Amino acid sequence: MDTAEVRRRFIAHFEDGAGWGAHTAVPSASLILDDPNLLFVNAGMVQFKPYFLGQESPPYPRATSIQKCVRTPDIEDVGKTTRHGTFFEMCGNFSFGDYFKEGAISLAWDLVTKSVADGGWGLEESRLWPSILDGDDEALTLWKKVTGLPDERIVRLGKKENYWSMGVPGPGGPCSEILYDRGPAFGPEADFTRMGTDMPTELEDRYLEIWNLVFMQDELSAVRSKEDFDIAGALPRKNIDTGMGLERVAFLLQGKDNMYEIDVMYPVIERAEQLSGRRYGAHTESGHRDDVLFRIVADHVRSSMMLINDGVTPGNESRGYVLRRLLRRAVRSMRLLGYEDRALPELMPISRDKMGETYTDLLQNWERISAVAYAEEDAFRQTLKAGTTIFDLAAGEVQQSGGTVLAGSTAFALHDTHGFPIDLTLEMAAEKGLQVDEEGFRRLMAEQRERAKADAKAKKGQHRSVGAFREIADQLGAPVRFTGYDEVVSEGTVRGLVDHEGTSIPAAAAGDDVELVLDRTPFYAEGGGQLADQGVIELDNGARLEVYDVQSPITGLVVHKAKVLTGEVTVGLHAQLLVDTERRRSISRSHTATHMVHKAFREALGDTATQAGSENSPGRFRFDFSATGAVPASAMVDVEARVNALVLDDLSVHAELMSQADAVKSGAMALFGEKYGDQVRVISVGDWARELCGGTHAQSSGQLGVVKLLGESSIGSGVRRVDALVGGDAYRFLAREHLLVAQLSETLKVRPEQLPERVNDLVDRLRAAEKDIEKVRVQQLLAAGGELAAAAEDLRGTSYVGHVADGAGGGDVRTLALDIRGRLGTDRPGVVAIVGARDGKPSVVVAVNDAGRDAGISANALVRAAAEVLGGKGGGKDDVAQGGGADASRAGEAVAAVRRALEAR
Ligand code: ALA
Repeated sequence: MDTAEVRRRFIAHFEDGAGWGAHTAVPSASLILDDPNLLFVNAGMVQFKPYFLGQESPPYPRATSIQKCVRTPDIEDVGKTTRHGTFFEMCGNFSFGDYFKEGAISLAWDLVTKSVADGGWGLEESRLWPSILDGDDEALTLWKKVTGLPDERIVRLGKKENYWSMGVPGPGGPCSEILYDRGPAFGPEADFTRMGTDMPTELEDRYLEIWNLVFMQDELSAVRSKEDFDIAGALPRKNIDTGMGLERVAFLLQGKDNMYEIDVMYPVIERAEQLSGRRYGAHTESGHRDDVLFRIVADHVRSSMMLINDGVTPGNESRGYVLRRLLRRAVRSMRLLGYEDRALPELMPISRDKMGETYTDLLQNWERISAVAYAEEDAFRQTLKAGTTIFDLAAGEVQQSGGTVLAGSTAFALHDTHGFPIDLTLEMAAEKGLQVDEEGFRRLMAEQRERAKADAKAKKGQHRSVGAFREIADQLGAPVRFTGYDEVVSEGTVRGLVDHEGTSIPAAAAGDDVELVLDRTPFYAEGGGQLADQGVIELDNGARLEVYDVQSPITGLVVHKAKVLTGEVTVGLHAQLLVDTERRRSISRSHTATHMVHKAFREALGDTATQAGSENSPGRFRFDFSATGAVPASAMVDVEARVNALVLDDLSVHAELMSQADAVKSGAMALFGEKYGDQVRVISVGDWARELCGGTHAQSSGQLGVVKLLGESSIGSGVRRVDALVGGDAYRFLAREHLLVAQLSETLKVRPEQLPERVNDLVDRLRAAEKDIEKVRVQQLLAAGGELAAAAEDLRGTSYVGHVADGAGGGDVRTLALDIRGRLGTDRPGVVAIVGARDGKPSVVVAVNDAGRDAGISANALVRAAAEVLGGKGGGKDDVAQGGGADASRAGEAVAAVRRALEAR
């Protein structure tokens, strides 16, 4: 049964509901749904979390979905086991306070055991082993009732396997899994009755978990490990969250050994076979290195394609880093398979064709996806080249010094700064007959990981608990009404006050900082790249507050951060909320300008120029978008001209609510991170730029006045940033520039358009003059040579000249030292030590003539004495040596040190 059919049957089963009520089929959310605790969506329930927690009321009592998921903690296991994929699809059914354990068990068992002819998976009952959380007697009774299986066929497992949470505070609950026994070829037979409540790892491949049914009933306040967590209380309702591995069921039904061989993945392996000339499965051991590499390629190519599709670009942090790692591991695996050309252009289109049957947006976004992926491969190839040179140098040094081990720090530096994978370092070292201090390498890696962890912890600590806000939200019962699309002054009632520690308080007095929730507000909370409104809140009792920030820590709640200026604020008071209209209008102009610039860039550079982030502040905005190289200056000019022409056209800006499907149909740009709610808000500038957006906007493009792009730069691989000004700020910027030009043209006595030529001319002349001065300076310096040589000291038969040459750089110092040495003659030992200092940096040269060397004097030894005084290092040969340092003020002492060293001989 091909994967598409597995998919179709799953959804059909739950849409029908098999007696438990029809489920609403909900599309997969983006992989990077906004959740501060999650790097990527990693389970089907993520998009429904607010429903489980009771923060939002679910629009349907039951749902089913097939969710795109990425999990990367197991990245090292990919290809080694049969079931670890970094990208996978989770089929799930969800009940929000509707059916509970019995419904979940019946629905799952029904689909798993129903014959293929009847629309099920047709898996043999004798191979199926339901599991429960040890002690969950209710589940035990229900499994026996639903399946008719005897007691000993139900496996009892501990919390590690059968209590599910997101790994962070949030919803959780006991669970039941359905395990499928793949037979003796996949491992030893289990004796579940005597095994205890831990699932031994060696059984996991044989007893494959295909479906996890979570009886979601608890709200967790702290999660320290899978088995160690605190339950804060019961969720408002009892829910069901299940996850069935699409790939796992597909490989069972397709008679394959593992997920990498299913119909939507195997073609990539086949292409990799053709490219590398090696054969998958050519070796009898299933864990043969080549096979593992083939599977890594199939998995990583698919995962990275899906991530780029959802808007991730390669980078050095968080999501971008994971993507970079996936892409590089795929390329690297192809190289280890012996294929050294560009691999992704050969492989990714194959994955696109397969996955594109379900995710048709892959085809629409292909230009952007392929551009990002291929650019990263090219960058990695460059890295490999640079890293190889550095490796060769390091290896050469080791060999020269007669060693056989490359230092762990070298391997670490190659890895850390050059992205050079350790296995590559190991392999290349082996080719040169060298070993690598792997232990040292791993220690440094571990230290780095510790640092990163400490860092992440510190960051997490900044998250304040939202407990108090959740309580306020519960009391409100409905989301705070945002009235700010239509008005900037509203009335409302204070419904909650929270102090700076996150504790609910009944009142706050003048001078206090407080966070206020009202039932309605015209204040826009920071979001979607738009900064928060500011303004004033006046209470009926005469108290006045200044609002300096507005945030939405949980969905549906608007929190005003404010300082009490006068009077006292208490819960229940009636209030007037007044938004600072100047600031609001200015931010709104920026937001509209961002949409226009986005659209104009897509016109100029193609659809790959997708927004990757933005910040709309008063009078200025920042716009980040995907592009593989610098934006040509001509494109910047064109975009600016186009936007300003449309500003003059005074296009009206309007907002409409419509279904997601209609929005896409109308040509609106639906960006990643959106949740597929029923209604979306679409902002149109004329009928030109159309985008999903929850922000506030100008009423017409004419209100923008002027839009001025200041410049563009790279902020990481594949992402460019444009900074720009709007309205009064743009005008003032241009006026200032104009004034500058006017002043310059006045000073230089030329017309503005002649300025560039005039300035170039001046710069040329200045350079020529500097050269002349330099020549004269060196001449003067050398002219001193004769005098200095004549004044040489006689140190017990050695002629010695020591001198501080102010303003002389390293080259001058050397020239002068050699000049003087030449003048000292050849018949007796001669030593010259010159210390110069230029731009605050000292340099020293010691020169010894042949007679001096015959007498055993070494410039190399002497220069070290001087450099040490200067706080630096030096070295060279016996006849000439040089050094530098940090402290130019000690030049005189450095010369004296040479003299002393010479005397001490
Ligand atoms: N949320 C559950 C899981 O991820 C179903 O396994």
